Amino acid sequence: MTKKTVRTGIVGSGFSATFHYEALRKVHGTNVEVVGVHSLDRDGGNAYAQKRDIRFFDRLDDLLDEVDVIHVCTPPMAHEPVSIAGLRRDKFVICEKPLTGYFGDGSEDFHWERADMTVAREAALAAVRRILDAEQAGKGQLLYAENWVYAPSIQKEREILEKTGAQILWIHGEEAHSGSHSVDYAYAARCGGGVLIGKGCHPLTAALYLKRVEGRARDGNPIRPRTVSARTHALTRLPGFRDEGHIRRDYYDIEDFSAIHVEFDDGTIADVFASDIVLGGIHNWLEVSANNHRAICNINPNTAMQTYNPVEKNFADVYVLEKIGTKQGWACTSPDEDWFTGYPQEIEAFYRTIAYGEPVESDSRLAADAVSTIYSAYVSAQHDGTATPVEQEVGP
Ligand SMILES: NC(=O)c1ccc[n+]([C@@H]2O[C@H](COP(=O)([O-])OP(=O)(O)OC[C@H]3O[C@@H](n4cnc5c(N)ncnc54)[C@H](O)[C@@H]3O)[C@@H](O)[C@H]2O)c1
Repeated sequence: MTKKTVRTGIVGSGFSATFHYEALRKVHGTNVEVVGVHSLDRDGGNAYAQKRDIRFFDRLDDLLDEVDVIHVCTPPMAHEPVSIAGLRRDKFVICEKPLTGYFGDGSEDFHWERADMTVAREAALAAVRRILDAEQAGKGQLLYAENWVYAPSIQKEREILEKTGAQILWIHGEEAHSGSHSVDYAYAARCGGGVLIGKGCHPLTAALYLKRVEGRARDGNPIRPRTVSARTHALTRLPGFRDEGHIRRDYYDIEDFSAIHVEFDDGTIADVFASDIVLGGIHNWLEVSANNHRAICNINPNTAMQTYNPVEKNFADVYVLEKIGTKQGWACTSPDEDWFTGYPQEIEAFYRTIAYGEPVESDSRLAADAVSTIYSAYVSAQHDGTATPVEQEVGP
């Protein structure tokens, strides 16, 4: 079979644009021609383009003229306008997480803790609706870049669920580290919330995905989230927090700890933790307790490789693990962190959808369920953890 050539545009030129490009270089099922990049950061965008020998586009529309797909690697606030611009031009849109959210009321002194979370949820769901409407109205398709869905351990669990007809009773999982370096991350209005949405979306969406898979395998009907209870805390903003310099603490209004409890349509449950207060490198895992098996998916760290380094400076040029505080002593050094995280598998799968129409595992519906669950979790947290219904009929 001759491989098709897909013409690609990147939007944004920061951290995620970098790992998207690395994953694009590994796509083997189809030919990829990266045409160019568009970014609000002209200097950064030009440098990104130059380094990769691609073109810089000042205007998104000009990039859209020349491509079949765009990668939305912008901060969450820009996901909706950029994705809709692509969908209106009948393009494929690969959108980073979270799909969208609530980004404040526009006032300069907006503070997340004083905001009404019911209003936040309505605004976030309205944004989701606009994206789903644009997708339905055109020939394009939104592919939701939730890499946890494509992490090899999660895809192995999908296979187990499909082949054994398992019933998942309880999922628990976590994404945590010692704090994002991004300046924007300190402000809820720039990211749609704090750690609950920023990190919690990953294990949550993997849990939503696996319950979908279970239902799909049994009778074709995905099992969806029904209610959510949540608590959020700002531990590094506590007056009594004793800062020893290991954990970021300069957040303006975001929560740095969240715990959410989801009840699905079939009465089974998931518990997801997300935080910015955990030392020792990134901590990403999901555990599944089913009626016929148990699975522990260690995304990061895992023990595929372990190193012992007696002298810190010996590993100065060696990448060990995301957010590891020290390279001295024992470490779960990752031989290929991107692979365990699912980045190349996600992009490969999307390009098979784009080129050959293969079905997509992480689509706009999964993204919509994640946003809906997250903002009902924020409503719940504002009411000290009261079980709160999750809106399921978000889109057309
Ligand atoms: N899946 C993951 O593991 C993962 C990891 C990190 C970030 N992300 C997601 O990736 C997205 C971007 O995060 P990042 O860390 O790359 O941020 P970043 O700040 O490093 O980069 C964002 C880029 O987008 C550009 N930009 C901003 N608004 C724009 C607009 N309207 N049009 C065009 N360009 C615009 C900025 O100039 C910048 O180049 C976020 O949604 C984040 O949640 C995902």
